[in-house]
Amino acid sequence: SYDWYRQMRESQPVYFDPQMQGWHIFRYEDVARVLTEHATFSSDRNRFTPAGDPNSNPIISSMLFMDPPRHHQLRQLVSQAFTPRMVARMEARIQEITNDLLDKVVAKGEMEVIRDLAGPLPVTVIAELLGIPTERREEFKQWCDDFLSGDGNATPEAQQVGMQAAGSMVSYFNKLLEQRRAQPHDDLVSALLQAEVDGEHLSSEELVGFCVLLLLAGNETTTNLLGNTILCLDEHPEAVEQLRARRELVPGALEEALRYYSPVKIMLRWPVSETTLSDQRIEAGQTLLAWLPSANRDEAQFPNADQFIIEREPNRHLGFGRGIHFCLGAPLARLEAKIALNTMLDRLPGSWRVPDVPLSPINNLSVFGIAKLPLTWQ
Ligand code: HEM
Repeated sequence: SYDWYRQMRESQPVYFDPQMQGWHIFRYEDVARVLTEHATFSSDRNRFTPAGDPNSNPIISSMLFMDPPRHHQLRQLVSQAFTPRMVARMEARIQEITNDLLDKVVAKGEMEVIRDLAGPLPVTVIAELLGIPTERREEFKQWCDDFLSGDGNATPEAQQVGMQAAGSMVSYFNKLLEQRRAQPHDDLVSALLQAEVDGEHLSSEELVGFCVLLLLAGNETTTNLLGNTILCLDEHPEAVEQLRARRELVPGALEEALRYYSPVKIMLRWPVSETTLSDQRIEAGQTLLAWLPSANRDEAQFPNADQFIIEREPNRHLGFGRGIHFCLGAPLARLEAKIALNTMLDRLPGSWRVPDVPLSPINNLSVFGIAKLPLTWQ
């Protein structure tokens, strides 16, 4: 929690945790260094931890866990298909999906933000990008949830369910790739199949890894950005009126929500050689756990770090990471969140209130969000 982050930033900013067998990193300066100096701090988990089975964890074969030069090649390849222009083309469709979702709740005067908007919006958008048919979207959301709940800290049963979900996603995308290979469409998967750098295409494993990565990276994170933004606004009701009156402040408010309640918590890295961070000696291959929410509340970087200030400037938060692995989906996440928040401001009048009930934080090592977020207005 944020109290723990503050204590650790002050007393043990780089701390070896015997239980996790890794170093926790809490200060902005150190986290930014770990993310930026990719030649020292590797993302290649296969190099330092026992290799997993790509069928049980397909994103092991994705660029998220690769170093240059392969990371650079892969990122160039997928960037040909996943461009800011393609994202901008989605704008009208994102607006339409948002309107449809809000149509169902406006008259009621209340909603459950995650179930009614923040959950379905990103999964619908990414499913349309990937060409997953409407009738299978629920199933995909379930696979993503199962996979994420089956992380290293989960019970053996949950890990088993997570592995099955991963297997289902892999076989689904393998089939989809076969179909598009035989008969290309005007869609992301076909564009990925055609993408080429130095005469080289993506391998099937890499293609599947990337599709699964998009699903996993693009869903829960964006859901939580929206939910966390509503949470910030609930704690600062005056900001709702301010935003309603001055829409040009919306993008900045979303950046501040990314800083204040960062949806992604931990980035893992492995130093390739012995190194020092805040006076601690770290050996090659030891695991580093860099805490984004802690870095984003570091007073040394952000004056009044524990205040939510929608006009904060500068705001060089690390919510989307930094350096060569900087979030590829940031333009899409920003666009979805902007449209969703603007449409809520348009259509849900009066003051917004999250009823006084205990909120259930998502119990997960890697994401911060609220599982259920009731909201009333007027
Ligand atoms: C990478 C956060 C939405 C796709 C990352 C990283 C962070 C992040 C922190 C860096 C990982 C690292 O350094 O190891 C977020 C947040 C989001 C979001 C907070 C929403 C608010 C999305 C969306 C997509 C996406 C919507 C795609 C549709 C990716 C991909 C990478 C990535 C492909 C890997 C990039 C690479 O390794 O070069 N994201 N993300 N993200 N994100 Fe996002």
